[in-house]
Amino acid sequence: MQVTFIWHEQIDGRWSQQQKQVTTTGDMTILRLAREHDIKIDATCGGRGRCGRCKVVVDGLLNEISKVEEQLLTKEELARGIRLACYARPLGDIKASIPTSETELLQILTEGSEQAVAAAPDIVKQFVTVEKPLLETPDGDRERLLEALEQSGQKDCQIPLQIMSGLPEVLRKEDHQVTVTRWGNHIVAVESGDTTGELFGLAFDIGTTTVVGGLIDLHQGKELAVAARLNGQAAYGADVISRIEYASNGTSQLRRLQRAVIDTLNGVAAEIHEKTGISPNKVCRVVIVGNTCMQHLALGVSPTYIARSPYTPAFSNRFDVKAGQLGLAVNPEAPVTFLPNVAGFVGGDTVGVVVATELAHQKGRILMVDIGTNGEIVMSWGGRMVSCSTAAGPAFEGAQISSGMRAGEGAIEFVEIGDDIEVAVIGKTQPRGICGSGLIDLVAELLKVGIIDETGRLQDAAELQGLSPELLKRIRLGEAGNEFVVVWGEEAADGSDIVLTQRDIRELQLAKGAIRAGTMILQQVLDIKDEDIDELLLAGAFGNYIRKESAMQMGLLPQVPLEKVRSVGNAARVGARLCLISQGKLEEASRLARSMDYVELSGRPDFQEAFMNAMLFPQITCESAR
Ligand code: FES
Repeated sequence: MQVTFIWHEQIDGRWSQQQKQVTTTGDMTILRLAREHDIKIDATCGGRGRCGRCKVVVDGLLNEISKVEEQLLTKEELARGIRLACYARPLGDIKASIPTSETELLQILTEGSEQAVAAAPDIVKQFVTVEKPLLETPDGDRERLLEALEQSGQKDCQIPLQIMSGLPEVLRKEDHQVTVTRWGNHIVAVESGDTTGELFGLAFDIGTTTVVGGLIDLHQGKELAVAARLNGQAAYGADVISRIEYASNGTSQLRRLQRAVIDTLNGVAAEIHEKTGISPNKVCRVVIVGNTCMQHLALGVSPTYIARSPYTPAFSNRFDVKAGQLGLAVNPEAPVTFLPNVAGFVGGDTVGVVVATELAHQKGRILMVDIGTNGEIVMSWGGRMVSCSTAAGPAFEGAQISSGMRAGEGAIEFVEIGDDIEVAVIGKTQPRGICGSGLIDLVAELLKVGIIDETGRLQDAAELQGLSPELLKRIRLGEAGNEFVVVWGEEAADGSDIVLTQRDIRELQLAKGAIRAGTMILQQVLDIKDEDIDELLLAGAFGNYIRKESAMQMGLLPQVPLEKVRSVGNAARVGARLCLISQGKLEEASRLARSMDYVELSGRPDFQEAFMNAMLFPQITCESAR
């Protein structure tokens, strides 16, 4: 039997299709066959039928669909001929197309500005020598271990059943010398011998789109490995509102969303394990940040009332749970802490950003903006912090934009307009679409040359003067008004024109209007004008990749000098990491969340007017235009 594998590979910065034909007798799965022939298939769980990452699109006769595949693949996927390579076995000649791994294609921001914090976690390891049992003292293993702990000053410790079940062997393996991992008086692990030299924790940032995790050596506070992937809930909608709507349909839908994100976290943990060789079972502490909805869904708590006035979360203060209760594939007794939520739409991720940037300790008037499908904004001045959240929608992630795409391989990320248009593409390959940062550049450049006016109208070519014929040729009448051709089909990856339509511009105006109106209201609350802002921090992936000049040009941000604008990267994840390695930071996170004021924009009579004004683009003056 012949199996033809087809996949795409990046060679010298360009993606090209590869093909290899191999022979099989039909006793091997596609995954094993691929491995034997050095063909890469994403198999995070090592082929154990747990991760669902080894999808292949198959044409030809295979064994019957297994129960595992029915569980891990959707009906639509099965109907499209998608199978799990670790379960599918060829029964005749087949073609197996291997999809390019999404993380290979997606640009995920994992880094953020760091502050030096001494490692002092709230979890400790302690080497203990336990009395050996004697005929005349028949005390149980548990009691003798508790006695040894009490003698070292640790009273009232609790040993869970899970640990007690293996205790007899663990005690005797190294002659009653053990290492106890303790979180307060909760025993997290008991290991034979002295393992005090190693203590590991995981810090996760659950974004609506992506999930990033880092393994931390808790003795040194050092990050050993990072992994990231798309949030498995993406199939249930790109923004929090769609996820809330889906979860509100019933318990099974809520459980499905919880499973999707926990599977994603476990996938990240498995990848970290592959990179470091450190077993997930050695992970004894976890800190998670996410927006309020993501934190609810990861805990399996209904987020329904977050979306209904008065937008109340199920929990505000930090929440601790055991990893085993969540199904997290680390030590099941490991305490998992979710950072506090400030409000229904300002969650633990924003608290993480505030911790990471030390916003509360900064002098001056500081504005922090985290632009995503939901924009979170915090303004700090004179010891007071005020926050709000504003629904920007997914336009900045390239969704609901005709040629939009996420910031990944083939996305136009940079645009400049002179006599004609110049673009830069992620991966230096043929463009497939345009991502958020490219869209902002494009609109800013089109505003500069007058092709878009301050109301957002895409002008007719006949109305424009002084522009080159190359540029004018790009303006045409589309199905729904004027459109601008960014890349002609012959230069694009799939042969179709990449365009910006009038409707796309309206979508962007809604998104930028929401963000700018949020910043304007917070400035009003604290009576701070644009020129009074001392620093403008941009958090998150979008803030990291956009050109600040373009964001300013299109009026997305307050008009401040560019040197006052600083990108702080994935500061939410940095905040989670700091809270993991320092008990002091974790306690500070709770204090900051409690002291932060929250402004509900929908409850402000001036929000609509601010929003309408913020949708307009700033007028381009002769000096600001090139
Ligand atoms: S490799 Fe994980 S399900 Fe197949």
